Amino acid sequence: MSDPIGLARGLTNYGDRDFALYLRRSFAKSMGYSPAMLAKPVIGIANTASGFNNCHRLVPELVEAVKRGVLAAGALPLDFPTISLGEVFLNPTSLMFRNLMAMDTEEMIRAQPMDAVVLVGGCDKTVPAQLMGAASANLPAIQLVTGPMMTGPWRGERLGACTDCRRFWARFRAGEVSRQDIDEVEGSLATTAGTCAVMGTASTMASIAEALGMMLPGTAAIPAVHADRLRAAEATGGAAVALAQRKLAPDRIITARSVENALRVLLAIGGSTNALLHLTAIAGRVGIDIPLTTLNALSDATPVLVDLKPTGPHYMEDLFAAGGIGAVLRELKPLLHLDCVTVTGESLGDRLGQGDGIFVDRKVIRPLREPLQPQGGLVALFGSLAPGGAILKRSAADAALFERQGRAVVFSSLEDLAARIDDPALDVAPEDFLVLQNAGPTSPSAMPEAGYLPIPGKLARAGVKDMVRISDARMSGTAYGTVVLHVTPDAASGGPLARLRSGDLLRLSVKERRIDIMVEPAELARRPVPTPRAPVRGYARLYHEQILQADRGCDFAFLRAVPER
Ligand code: FES
Repeated sequence: MSDPIGLARGLTNYGDRDFALYLRRSFAKSMGYSPAMLAKPVIGIANTASGFNNCHRLVPELVEAVKRGVLAAGALPLDFPTISLGEVFLNPTSLMFRNLMAMDTEEMIRAQPMDAVVLVGGCDKTVPAQLMGAASANLPAIQLVTGPMMTGPWRGERLGACTDCRRFWARFRAGEVSRQDIDEVEGSLATTAGTCAVMGTASTMASIAEALGMMLPGTAAIPAVHADRLRAAEATGGAAVALAQRKLAPDRIITARSVENALRVLLAIGGSTNALLHLTAIAGRVGIDIPLTTLNALSDATPVLVDLKPTGPHYMEDLFAAGGIGAVLRELKPLLHLDCVTVTGESLGDRLGQGDGIFVDRKVIRPLREPLQPQGGLVALFGSLAPGGAILKRSAADAALFERQGRAVVFSSLEDLAARIDDPALDVAPEDFLVLQNAGPTSPSAMPEAGYLPIPGKLARAGVKDMVRISDARMSGTAYGTVVLHVTPDAASGGPLARLRSGDLLRLSVKERRIDIMVEPAELARRPVPTPRAPVRGYARLYHEQILQADRGCDFAFLRAVPER
């Protein structure tokens, strides 16, 4: 007997299969579907529209276009809601809820009768959550992103969320921009629907989804408001029907080789540090580890080709016009595994073979032989401060600060940072290292994007633009500076970072890939480490009990392919 399709899949358990199907069809008929429609394969559409997610404002339009594509290809499209994570609307931080959305996505794909699923996401945590959930459910799945915002003009300057948000805020803090001007800028940063306009986390994750082969070619960088975005949605709907027929599940697409391709792309686009966490978590769902030593090896052998903010002058709309991620992949061809299968059933090599002769704007996408930077954007550091590793986005940092020792100025929490960073009496000099503790995955703040510590007010006003900053927190993909992140193990779990005190000497050497505490180990061991209070109920308790460190992608231990603990 052939496998059931469409509504006949995964029947509700009453102990009578025929009754369950009869009942399901009768209820489905109440939605006005004909028997012929109800007999077709079903394509689920994970619908993440939310009034709390500006980046997903056009999701309803995209869902309609996906439906059009599904219907034209002969299947029944049924959308279903999942949690949506709007980056700036969540407390304490969106990362805390990525795993909850991944669970929601996984369980709804598995529980509802569908032959394939279209994942409509966009904002930073939604695409990784959807890919994690789909990888675990292992039903044929295809990603569609909402696409980036367009830039907007302000007094003759082009602005786009959110590198320009940070640049203007730093200038406001330094007294270079007035209150009236910053209020005007606030209204000019995010003027269309879509995800952040630079190579932040959302754009990086869209690029990674295309590089992994989980998305249609050429669709990562199409602006949210471009008509091509709707055509991409329609094509994605059609592709989902073909995918269901082929029964091509994520475990055949997300493999060690395609993950390596995605890492290459992450490095070549100068992508977000957050994306490394997310790719690690996605890979972990299919049993693939990404050791940080592998990241370093790939980073040393993968040049930066894409010249976008936060490291360059351009925006995502420029990358789209310049040839998109397809052009980047074609440049990287000699470094990629071309045999990886993609959602369309073709190999990556076949996909890239079709792009010869397409225009590429070399101001935005450099050729492999003339890269922007000879090495990748990210580097992992190890040492007595971070035995499990830490990350530096060297492409967005000041190389003049890479080889040095500095005195630690320690903030014990986000609250302590907020209370003291602008205190005129703060004992701090430009050559010091600013350190933030208790902002890692096991802390109550759940690893917020707080690693981009502000330059202390008195130094900012004196013209200091960058300092070495170290924490167990994350940093927005739209931010820049000499910022060492994801220190592992984190302070709240008792890592060496917790034992650091103001005045201790730290040593950073990017050349040697090291970050060390220059304090006797015996002296460090004597210092007490406070244990944060554990939440007693609800999702916060599940999070606290199951969260893994940054080197495991901050996934939950019980959700990895091989559950841990
Ligand atoms: Fe959604 Fe930046 S806030 S992508």
